[in-house]
Amino acid sequence: MYVPKNYKRLKRGPQVILPKDIGFIMAYTGVGKNSFCVDAGTGSGWLAVSLARICRRVVSYDIRQDFLKIAEKNKAMENLDNLELKNQDFTKSVKERDADLVTLDMPNAEKALRNAYRVLKPEGYVVGYLPHMEQVKKFVKKLSSMGFYNTMVYEIIARDILVREEGMRPSTKGVWHTAYLVFAEKKQKQ
Ligand SMILES: C[S@@+](CC[C@H](N)C(=O)[O-])C[C@H]1O[C@@H](n2cnc3c(N)ncnc32)[C@H](O)[C@@H]1O
Repeated sequence: MYVPKNYKRLKRGPQVILPKDIGFIMAYTGVGKNSFCVDAGTGSGWLAVSLARICRRVVSYDIRQDFLKIAEKNKAMENLDNLELKNQDFTKSVKERDADLVTLDMPNAEKALRNAYRVLKPEGYVVGYLPHMEQVKKFVKKLSSMGFYNTMVYEIIARDILVREEGMRPSTKGVWHTAYLVFAEKKQKQ
């Protein structure tokens, strides 16, 4: 899949979230200049950096110092002083509260849902980025046992189109599956 230059310039370590999925997360949750987002794990920081480009504040957690170094470089390159990177396990204690969005792109993301719930404000969104259906099943089951609602699951398919004199058509190569996106809202204040 073609990666546009505003992403191509970013450094890449572990598997990153691609613009097709990042764009959908932003549009669906409606985050913007007043939003506070919490992200786990940081990885190369592609999602965290993208959120920080448009949101008021982003805090991103990762247990791997080596990956955080890559994300630090991307943060510096983009000049983002509203992005805070934390070398901490997101399933352990978390201080943040009243977030508009929590994004989870980490193994066993369902184990992070308790902290996601604590961190979110009522009606805030949690988004799980999950490569396999088995993970989706576990995640959705945990969501519904915890008082999250409006759960929706998507897969975003983007196709590169070959633009040529001899015939325009979708490319035979490309990125097909990346991950499933699971969205849910924290229940409203009673
Ligand atoms: C696929 S990468 C995330 C990529 C990132 N979303 C991006 O767009 O660049 C998954 C990350 O989750 C981190 N991770 C794993 N368990 C974690 C935990 N309990 N708390 C925080 N981060 C964790 C890993 O170290 C890894 O960097």
